[in-house]
Amino acid sequence: MMDESFKKQFYGLLEQRRSIRKFKRDPVSREIVERILHAGMQAPSGKNRQNWRFYVIEGEKRDAYLKYSQKSWLGLKDKLVERLKPSLYEFTERFFFTLGDAPVIVFCYSLNSADERYLTSIGSVYMAVENMNLAAFVEGLGACTMGAPLEITAEVDHFLGVDQLKEHQSGDLQLLCALVLGWPDHSPPKASRQLEGRITWLS
Ligand SMILES: Cc1cc2nc3c(=O)[nH]c(=O)nc-3n(C[C@H](O)[C@H](O)[C@H](O)COP(=O)(O)O)c2cc1C
Repeated sequence: MMDESFKKQFYGLLEQRRSIRKFKRDPVSREIVERILHAGMQAPSGKNRQNWRFYVIEGEKRDAYLKYSQKSWLGLKDKLVERLKPSLYEFTERFFFTLGDAPVIVFCYSLNSADERYLTSIGSVYMAVENMNLAAFVEGLGACTMGAPLEITAEVDHFLGVDQLKEHQSGDLQLLCALVLGWPDHSPPKASRQLEGRITWLS
């Protein structure tokens, strides 16, 4: 049984976490990144297959990825220009061009298998991704989950060398998202949450 102050902190953590898109240039130690990855791997997974696979880039490899991030923006910008107000559109464009100076990027893959339903495999990896978001927050780091690399999946697979793996060649290793990590350099407001129509109780 968790005590009241732990409960309060836990729910507070969920409320306070938010996506961070601007980072200080300071490096993040491997020790911290490892802790975050290990937190991810504490997540539940379908049949306990632990089918997450993480590829972490930093340094020059991370710098080289910016070119790809910029390309992924091309696939998204037309949709976003309609949805976002101009200042947010510009901020988002800058984020894609620089990744907010985030020093670390974790690419999250699912190793799918015939023994497991596709959606269960995918869901399991996203459970780990949320654990990592929360662990980053607890570490004082900022994080942003990005579906944007899916705009250029084949290129990302090649950039990471994942396309050389037999599990990729058999079509089982699938990119789901990237998680950018770094020390936060802004404090954005909490994105609103709507409750209406989200929950249905039946009894
Ligand atoms: C699967 C997934 C994909 C996302 N892709 C992007 C992305 O490509 N670029 C981005 O800036 N934010 C991305 N986000 C972050 C969401 O925009 C953000 O979680 C949402 O607006 C709620 O804000 P919050 O995380 O601050 O609570 C993504 C989030 C999820 C869960």
